[in-house]
Amino acid sequence: MKSSAFIEVPVRIPGSECRVLVGRGLIQLTGELVRETGLRGACAIITDDNVARHHNAAVQRSLEAAGYRVHVFIVPAGEKSKAMSVAEDLCDRMIAAGLDRSSFVVALGGGVVGDLAGFVAAIYQRGIPFVQIPTTIVAQVDSSVGGKTGVNARAGKNLIGSFHQPRLVLADTDTLRTLPDREYREGFAEVIKHAAIRDAAMLDELDPDAPRETLGPLIARNIAIKAAIVAEDEREQTGTRALLNFGHTVAHAIENAAGYGRFLHGEAVSIGLAAALQISQNKSGLSAAEAQRVRDKLAAFGLPLALTPDLDTETLLAAARRDKKFAEGQIRYVLSPKLGEAFVAEDVTEQDLRTAIESLRT
Ligand code: NAD
Ligand code: GLY
Repeated sequence: MKSSAFIEVPVRIPGSECRVLVGRGLIQLTGELVRETGLRGACAIITDDNVARHHNAAVQRSLEAAGYRVHVFIVPAGEKSKAMSVAEDLCDRMIAAGLDRSSFVVALGGGVVGDLAGFVAAIYQRGIPFVQIPTTIVAQVDSSVGGKTGVNARAGKNLIGSFHQPRLVLADTDTLRTLPDREYREGFAEVIKHAAIRDAAMLDELDPDAPRETLGPLIARNIAIKAAIVAEDEREQTGTRALLNFGHTVAHAIENAAGYGRFLHGEAVSIGLAAALQISQNKSGLSAAEAQRVRDKLAAFGLPLALTPDLDTETLLAAARRDKKFAEGQIRYVLSPKLGEAFVAEDVTEQDLRTAIESLRT
């Protein structure tokens, strides 16, 4: 199969080169596509136990057929693996395997593996290249592109990390066939977020029953949205990239307060979006009808919109205060005045957040 059979999404991040391909059957071509990218040396595939079972053999076989020496490192599936101790252990195992500065990492899995393996690539021997092979919707539409890598700290999500751009991203939609239903549906929270901040028309095109193998164009459309934002503001300095945090202040607080792993990331984002819509209605004039359109779409994908009673408001607020989105004690909160548009507000108060969180209990 020729790589022209795939959708190539242009990603133009100043100072880095990243090729992004979307389509069916890409993982069978991993070796030759990595070769075309110019990567040499030995390779560390980092993956988790679920993904390894379904997809590692194809990736490993293809890399070996292209002449690469391959070492496979498997971590337990789930958010708990996004930890400094796991990153350190992987580095130790890579040193023991003889991987050096000319080696590269292949992150094969969802957002957890992508963030963790990307972080390992960023710190291993002061940084080696890496390739993303995202296998969830979250990872294909969001986390594999943009270069945010990292692990969680006890105090909060993603508080330890680095910007490190992948050299190649292969989003193979065939890998989505093995994704369990819950993990499949959670990914649409990030797609709906993209619609809310940049592409209102996309909202009506999202169909929970669409066959997974037909999702290539939708995934490419989402990568293009994300890539355009990252190209403008890679390091989240001007406020543009911060727009991607729509719904994430409360989402990260939920993940931290509930204990990593209880909610899937997309499920927490869905509840976080419900909070952001509420505050947008109160503070930036988002119409009730537009907010309801977004909530209806989240519900159509079976995503949660309400908080469970055990997550009390003050615990969530304390977790939110530790988030990176608090700058010198002030919340930088993303609001939408109209579907398809968003901005970073400086005037959202803790009381606004408290009121929105309380509204998620009814
Ligand atoms: P995940 O990586 O935990 O994957 C979800 C589950 O699906 C896991 O059990 C995994 O083993 C399994 N799985 C993955 N692919 C599979 C497949 N093809 N077949 C069968 N099982 C498969 O979760 P996720 O939702 O992909 O990612 C969430 C993480 O991504 C969070 O840590 C979040 O913070 C991070 N994230 C990062 C960015 C970024 O810009 N770096 C953006 C969004 C999310
Ligand atoms: N997922 C948020 C970002 O990449 O900036």
